[in-house]
Amino acid sequence: MSSLEKADKLHALREKAFAGGGEKKIEKQHEKGKLTARERIDLLLDDDSFEEFDMLVTHRSTSFGLDKKKIPGDGVVTGYGTIDGRQVYVFSHDFTVFGGSLSETFAEKILKIMDMAAMNGAPLIGLNDSGGARIQEGIESLAGYGKIFLKNVLYSGVIPQISAILGPCAGGAVYSPAITDFTIMVKGISYMFVTGPTVVKAVTGEDVTKEQLGGPGIHSKRSGVCSLVCEDENEALLIIRKLISYVPQNNMEDPIRVSCTDPPDRMEMWLDEFVPDNPNKPYEMRTIIEAIVDNGEFLEIQRVFASNIIVGFARMNGHSIGIVANQPSYLAGVLDNDASVKAARFVRFCDAFNIPVVTLVDVPGFMPGTAQEYGGIIRNGAKLLFAYAEATVPKITVIIRKAYGGAYDVMSSKHIRADINYAWPTAEIAVMGPEGAVEIIFRRDIDEAEDPAARKKELVDQYRDKFANPYDAASRGYLDDVIIASNTRFRIIKALEMLAGKRQTIPPKKHGNIPL
Ligand code: HXC
Repeated sequence: MSSLEKADKLHALREKAFAGGGEKKIEKQHEKGKLTARERIDLLLDDDSFEEFDMLVTHRSTSFGLDKKKIPGDGVVTGYGTIDGRQVYVFSHDFTVFGGSLSETFAEKILKIMDMAAMNGAPLIGLNDSGGARIQEGIESLAGYGKIFLKNVLYSGVIPQISAILGPCAGGAVYSPAITDFTIMVKGISYMFVTGPTVVKAVTGEDVTKEQLGGPGIHSKRSGVCSLVCEDENEALLIIRKLISYVPQNNMEDPIRVSCTDPPDRMEMWLDEFVPDNPNKPYEMRTIIEAIVDNGEFLEIQRVFASNIIVGFARMNGHSIGIVANQPSYLAGVLDNDASVKAARFVRFCDAFNIPVVTLVDVPGFMPGTAQEYGGIIRNGAKLLFAYAEATVPKITVIIRKAYGGAYDVMSSKHIRADINYAWPTAEIAVMGPEGAVEIIFRRDIDEAEDPAARKKELVDQYRDKFANPYDAASRGYLDDVIIASNTRFRIIKALEMLAGKRQTIPPKKHGNIPL
């Protein structure tokens, strides 16, 4: 064979790999409103930056006539490229080849880039669209999944791992995305479940659709599995690019600092009057967040899950930060089971990847009642406490209004190693809210009064004057300062820059035992 003929052979093989499952399958993919594996990579990465590995890999299976059906690439496209010039590793399931199902060699391709991502310290992005374990390969494909799960775990906290679910994700296959740091789903095409509707019907008798069982609506609102929901794949891939911009390449690096056109000392005078005089009146915490961060840009994670707490990424003077904030306009910003777990996981992500945490507090306490107690609010609240206490990244806390009871301690108080604790003049810091406190300590006084309602009001006012302010805490140094609301942006930026060289450790140990 001449050199030219040899080159032609390579071209032919490559063309076959590029064709995936063939034109008909690609058409079917598009009809379902889905992009192909390579189209997705093109949209995700910087133009012409993708370098592919293992395009010529084929499966080794001989069962069920598979030896006569081999497609180079074997159903997954893997490699590396850049996002805004920064290196990332990607795998993208090709549903047009055996339904994107995972074979032994398919798994090996993914494992190879996982190892390379970890070794070279760059994020790993998985674009999932798969029928699960390749049924014809039996145990080999289960072994493949197991090996991928292991690497997901070993590299957790070493490199950022992001999963997009762009089609089915069923059976044990869901556990790989679940271990990664963020899971993105797309309306109308994504679903995730441990067992599909048919098995559910057989085992429990329950009639349920794919959407009801594991669509983006369910996972973003009810289960909390999904970090971000997108309208279409374009948006999902763009959001991954945005997410990557906030995070460092790996746990040994800091996030990149971008140039900032928003003045660090920008005052927002209206903030001084923003908190309602009536302590029970809600307000929108996002308004404060958007007012203090660079250009009002905030990438919120898990927006519709446990909406009583807000978590997400923003920048201040170009520095990437994680924000955790109680949301007074949803359940009064109370801490419940879901909110505690949501915030705890976010704080741990930030801590693993050197992203400072800014906490904005307006919390009336932990949610009382049997539903919360039976649901494990003790265990779950402890997770948030554990996450904050353990975190060694810079931690800055601003108490906006209420900081009551155990929730005061938990929400990044000075006592659990926050670095800088500020409060607005509107802050109320006490063991509990005035109404509850007065009912307990002055019950007899109120009952015996001529006008119990008037007496109660008098006592509530007295209590509020004494405790519902930031000055008791400030007098003890539990607050570093009481700051003017309009100047919050500047004060946080100054604190962040002061803390840029922070070095703090935890006692040497194998790992702590977070109350899971
Ligand atoms: C081999 C598979 C496959 C699989 C799909 N295909 N899933 N081949 N192993 N798991 C093939 C189909 O045979 C078909 O091939 C092609 O992919 C496209 O599939 P369709 O069924 O035509 O597509 P669609 O109608 O869109 O349905 C998609 C689907 C369905 C819902 C994913 O294919 C399906 O239910 N697949 C099985 C899902 C499943 O039960 N997987 C195992 C889960 S358990 P042809 O040649 O006809 O085009 C699991 C364990 C993981 O994964 C454990 C980890 C620890």
